[in-house]
Amino acid sequence: MSKPLTIAIDGPAASGKSTLARRLARALGYLYFDTGVLYRAVTWAALQRGLAPDDPAAMTHLARSLRIEVRPPSRDDGRSNDVWVEGQDVTWAVRAPEVDRWVSVVAAHPGVREALKAVQRRIGRQGRVVMVGRDIGTVIMPDADLKIYLDASVEERARRRYLEAQGRGETVSYARILEDLRARDRLDASRAVAPLRPAPDAVVLQSDGLTPEQVFERVMALVRQRNSAPAEQRV
Ligand code: DC
Repeated sequence: MSKPLTIAIDGPAASGKSTLARRLARALGYLYFDTGVLYRAVTWAALQRGLAPDDPAAMTHLARSLRIEVRPPSRDDGRSNDVWVEGQDVTWAVRAPEVDRWVSVVAAHPGVREALKAVQRRIGRQGRVVMVGRDIGTVIMPDADLKIYLDASVEERARRRYLEAQGRGETVSYARILEDLRARDRLDASRAVAPLRPAPDAVVLQSDGLTPEQVFERVMALVRQRNSAPAEQRV
């Protein structure tokens, strides 16, 4: 088998998916696509326009009509991609705490998910892509060549987020982060459409106690293995 051309990485919030995917994409020369930014872009636009994130019809209409563009980074300010909405650069705006608070609600509307499916599938079909999300291996790219479900305990994920926030000089409490993550996990895993869960053929990686380097090395080992092993020996 040749090198996996489509790699799906799913898992809960703050499990290290983006860090892993960015490194993989760089190592393989593939496109990195974080699909969460699409849901974030819709949420950002809803808040800007004073629309209710819990209104399924309004959110579906918004997701269908909004012009969202995800492009290679235009600036060297830590971004992995540019995210533009209606001609405005919202790359950092979609990371605001207010968006964090509402994005799981927006992402739970079936109409929103349907509207955003086409763009994700189009990018997936091009191949040479590492795509990150919650339902990439189960819904968006069920035929992905390699599927990873990256998990970690909620305490470990909260600890990582807390250290990151501290590093940026933000004053947040660990307890608040833990509580927010628990709430997002609940919403992402319990929604009726495309809930967060590993695909049956995904490799589940529990990253508690592993450094980002170790996680990357394990996945690279899987990539190499798929590259060389005959089909029946693949994991
Ligand atoms: O990965 P993230 O934190 O940027 O994701 C933001 C939200 O979008 C999160 O609540 C789950 C949702 N999401 C999703 O439902 N499906 C995806 N493929 C990606 C993200």
